[in-house]
Amino acid sequence: MEMETRPGRVWAEIDLGAVRHNVRALLHRAAGARLMAVVKADAYGHGALPVARAALEAGADSLAVATLAEGVELREGGIRAPVLVFGDLLPEQLREAGRMRLDVTVHSLAGARYMSSLPGLRVHLKVNTGMNRWGVEPEQVGEVYRLLGGRLAGVYTHLSCADWDSGFTLKQLLRFERVLGSHPFGNVLIHAANSAGTLWYTRARYDCVRPGGALYGLHPRGDAGDPADEGLRPALSLKSYVAGKRLLAAGERVSYGATFRAVRPMWVATVPVGYADGYRRMLSGKGVALIRGRRRCLLGRVTMDACVFEADEEVEVGDEVVLLGEQGEERIGAEELGRLAGTINYEVATGLNPRRVERRYVSGV
Ligand SMILES: Cc1ncc(COP(=O)(O)O)c(C=O)c1O
Repeated sequence: MEMETRPGRVWAEIDLGAVRHNVRALLHRAAGARLMAVVKADAYGHGALPVARAALEAGADSLAVATLAEGVELREGGIRAPVLVFGDLLPEQLREAGRMRLDVTVHSLAGARYMSSLPGLRVHLKVNTGMNRWGVEPEQVGEVYRLLGGRLAGVYTHLSCADWDSGFTLKQLLRFERVLGSHPFGNVLIHAANSAGTLWYTRARYDCVRPGGALYGLHPRGDAGDPADEGLRPALSLKSYVAGKRLLAAGERVSYGATFRAVRPMWVATVPVGYADGYRRMLSGKGVALIRGRRRCLLGRVTMDACVFEADEEVEVGDEVVLLGEQGEERIGAEELGRLAGTINYEVATGLNPRRVERRYVSGV
């Protein structure tokens, strides 16, 4: 690889063509329902504004974020589509949300009382159907409806295990439908399906689906499953380069703690990616990278700024290193990397440090 064209020590390549493809694939699966693209956490580490624009271009008609600041970033970036904030906001934040034309979520009776005093605020009512994290209890929905009535733009719930437990998911949907049937909500947007719900539960689709991970080609099972099996394309690659190469003699050791010991003479490559970039220290002794189209084991500990991988004589300083993504015939998925690091694909993507890992957008097809 030409030194001059390298963006930095380590960079993320984000394929917006894959995001557009995934939006279209999910809309197809949703069979007539609309799509709210979840772009919280900086679009799961992919960059909120470019992803939001790509998702809207491909057919999403609204967006969702977790925090007020994430919503404000979209508005200041020129996004005019409806944006729902999932999180619980403080009174001053609710007023700011209204000024920025962001839709908010009511999670409690106290919240509903306060929101009823803010004219013009558009509210989605979240119902707790068994996740027991956020949302109004089913018994209190009537009172919230009395307070907010015509102010409600949507009613929703969140599925806690649509990736593995169909019995519990069905129970949640039945609780949700009981609430929907008990109040005259009228013409509001009904939504429940996260990625797993969108892919696997026809019943969960209602008016609108609300996928996050699947937009980025992340499999909803987290540390298992192949996105390709669901017709999804991973959007994120993580790349670096061979910054140094050396020949170890048998018995020499590698990195902090000297945990790896060469049993025979071997070539190793130093790659400038470390845990401060979001390449997790849990990958020590377990990680894998692609160099010259072959899988190479990570030797010893991940340090703050660099790692050492096995190499061979052909590997050259400047060679591209793929830490996540494809090279030649090989691929390292976020699911695999998550499994190796004892976590899930979502955390692999959201955990990259944008102050160190430059993002490069490619448009794909
Ligand atoms: C309320 C809500 N809806 C939808 C999503 C999207 O979930 P997923 O990324 O699994 O599709 C999330 C993410 O956690 C969420 O909190």
